[in-house]
Amino acid sequence: MDMKKQLTADQALVEEALARYAEQWPELGDLQRAMAYSLLSGGKRIRPVLTLAACRLFGGQAEKALPFACGLEMIHTYSLIHDDLPCMDNDDFRRGKPTNHKVYGEATAVLAGDSLLTAAFGVLAQAELSPEQIVRGVACLSQAAGPAGMAGGQILDLLGEGKTLTYDEIVQIQNLKTGCMIEAAVRLGAIAAGSTPEEEEAVAEYARKIGLAFQIRDDVLDVLGDEAELGKPIGSDQENQKSTFVGLKGIEGCEALIEELTEGAIASLASYPGSEFLCELARMLAGRTK
Ligand code: IPE
Ligand code: IPE
Ligand code: MG
Ligand code: MG
Ligand code: MG
Repeated sequence: MDMKKQLTADQALVEEALARYAEQWPELGDLQRAMAYSLLSGGKRIRPVLTLAACRLFGGQAEKALPFACGLEMIHTYSLIHDDLPCMDNDDFRRGKPTNHKVYGEATAVLAGDSLLTAAFGVLAQAELSPEQIVRGVACLSQAAGPAGMAGGQILDLLGEGKTLTYDEIVQIQNLKTGCMIEAAVRLGAIAAGSTPEEEEAVAEYARKIGLAFQIRDDVLDVLGDEAELGKPIGSDQENQKSTFVGLKGIEGCEALIEELTEGAIASLASYPGSEFLCELARMLAGRTK
């Protein structure tokens, strides 16, 4: 199957599975509606696609990794709901629609995020994998989303507002807030496939590189992107006085970094047959416009 067809098929697999999980939520009026509003509102589904692809790369059945992929996407969605709150980035648009708190109010948006985060681990627990694989998956995702990962990166990002950060400080923030979840995405796929530690490490190295490139592209798009295509506002970083790679290296410097990281990511999978999909995905993400 060519790369685009595989990507579309995997995205569809994820959409259907997420919709099935959403059907299991209790009817709680606005809370349930707010969870579904953000979770089922599109999004590129890059992280769950990475989970499925990493699972396939190491000979696993992608369907077996689907609960891991969906749990991770639920946590990603919660992180976006909270990221958009007035107390954080204060943004009004996400995935082409008004942000969760704009529709449901701040209290419900906070609770929708909390609920997606908590429910995510229940989804992982439903995977038809060995108890050991499930425990490893839960530990991996907990590490990536918590204070040593995404949440930790988000606080450093907020504390950095209005300050001029160094290159290393920006790298640290980006790796934590975005890289860790992208690395967890491929690790979860590797765990579901029953890969060797060397295999998992190779795909994790790939993900660390595309993860950093992904956030640099996000920062570039915050300056040069098209709001309608992106589905979220541009200029948010400047408005919030964030230190980003764009401010430090300029657009051309960012393009060079993205290129270098993408080539490095591809190189880390060189000895793995069947890595074409992940290599093409890295290139596609490097040049994305949304
Ligand atoms: C946005 O992530 C937040 C970042 C970590 C840069 P995505 O660009 O993957 O957003 P969706 O899921 O497609 O909406
Ligand atoms: C957020 O980074 C990363 C998260 C962990 C949610 P940004 O704040 O740059 O993400 P966008 O641009 O709002 O999607
Ligand atoms: Mg933010
Ligand atoms: Mg934001
Ligand atoms: Mg951004």
